[in-house]
Amino acid sequence: MMNSVLKVENLSISFGGLKAVDDLSFEIGDKMIYGLIGPNGAGKTTVFNCITKFYTPNSGKVTFKTNTGEQINLLEHSVHQIINYGLARTFQNVELINDLSIIDNLLIGAHSQYKTSALQQAFLTPRARREEKEHRGRAMDILNQLGLADKANEIAGSQPYGVLKNVELARTLMSRPKLIIIDEPAAGLNETETEALAEMIKKIRDYYHCAVLMVEHDMGLVMSTCERICAINFGKKLAEGTPDEIKQNKEVQEAYLGKDDDDAEN
Ligand SMILES: Nc1ncnc2c1ncn2[C@@H]1O[C@H](COP(=O)(O)OP(=O)(O)OP(=O)(O)O)[C@@H](O)[C@H]1O
Ligand SMILES: [Mg+2]
Repeated sequence: MMNSVLKVENLSISFGGLKAVDDLSFEIGDKMIYGLIGPNGAGKTTVFNCITKFYTPNSGKVTFKTNTGEQINLLEHSVHQIINYGLARTFQNVELINDLSIIDNLLIGAHSQYKTSALQQAFLTPRARREEKEHRGRAMDILNQLGLADKANEIAGSQPYGVLKNVELARTLMSRPKLIIIDEPAAGLNETETEALAEMIKKIRDYYHCAVLMVEHDMGLVMSTCERICAINFGKKLAEGTPDEIKQNKEVQEAYLGKDDDDAEN
C-alpha cells in the first residue's frame, strides 16, 4: 500500500439516530497539507475526534503510517501510543501553561519522550540532566527554525493569542510528528495573524516533512495553504480535490450557498 500518512476508510459514527459521519473515506499523502471543510454541523469535528480517539466510530478503519514506517490501525491504539507513533494534535483553545516560559511549554511537550523515570528527573540524576539538556536544545532549535527564538524566555501568559497559536504548533514538533491535526487554527485570529499562521504551517511542513490535516472555516486559509481538500456535508463526502477543483465544484458551492465562509463558531 501506501504513500499516504493517513487513510480513512468507510468511517461512520451516529449519535442517536443522527449519522454525524456517514461512510467517509479520504487519504492524506506524505508531507501533504490537507483540509477538511464543510458547513456548520457537517461532521468535521466528529471526524477529527474519531481520528484522535476522542470518539469511537461505529465502523471504519483509520490507517496511519508511523514515524518508523509501520502501518497501524489507529482505532486499536491508545492516545498515548499514538503520540509516540507520530500523530500530534493541537486543541481548539490554546492549551499552554500560562505561568511557564515558552520554551518550558515546549519541554512539557517532550515529556512522553523522556527515557529517564519521573523519579530520576525529580532528583536530577546526571542522566536526567543530560536528557533535559538535549530536549532544551531541540526546543531551542525548533523555536529558531520557526522564527520564535526571541520569545523563548517570555512567559506564555504575557504573549498575544496569535503568538500562542504558533507556539502550540511549535510544541507539537517536540514529539517528532508525521502528521499534525489542527482544529480550526484561525479561530480568534485577525487577518495578519492568520497569514502568519499560514506561513508557520508551511514552514513546519517544509522543514519537518510532516503532513498537516486541518479542520478550518476560514476559506482563505484553507485555499492558500492546503494542497488537497475534502468537502463534506451531512457526514458524507461532497468532493475531494485541489483547491481549484473544490472552488469550482457545484455541490460544494450549493452546500455553502447563502452561508458566510466565516460564520465560524464551536
Ligand atoms: N457528542 C455528540 N453527541 C450528539 N451529537 C453530536 C455530538 N457531536 C457532534 N454531534 C452532532 O453531529 C453533527 C456533526 O457535528 P460536528 O461538530 O462534527 O460538525 P462540524 O462540521 O464540526 O460543525 P461546525 O462547523 O459547526 O464546527 C452535528 O449535527 C452535531 O450536532
Ligand atoms: Mg466543528
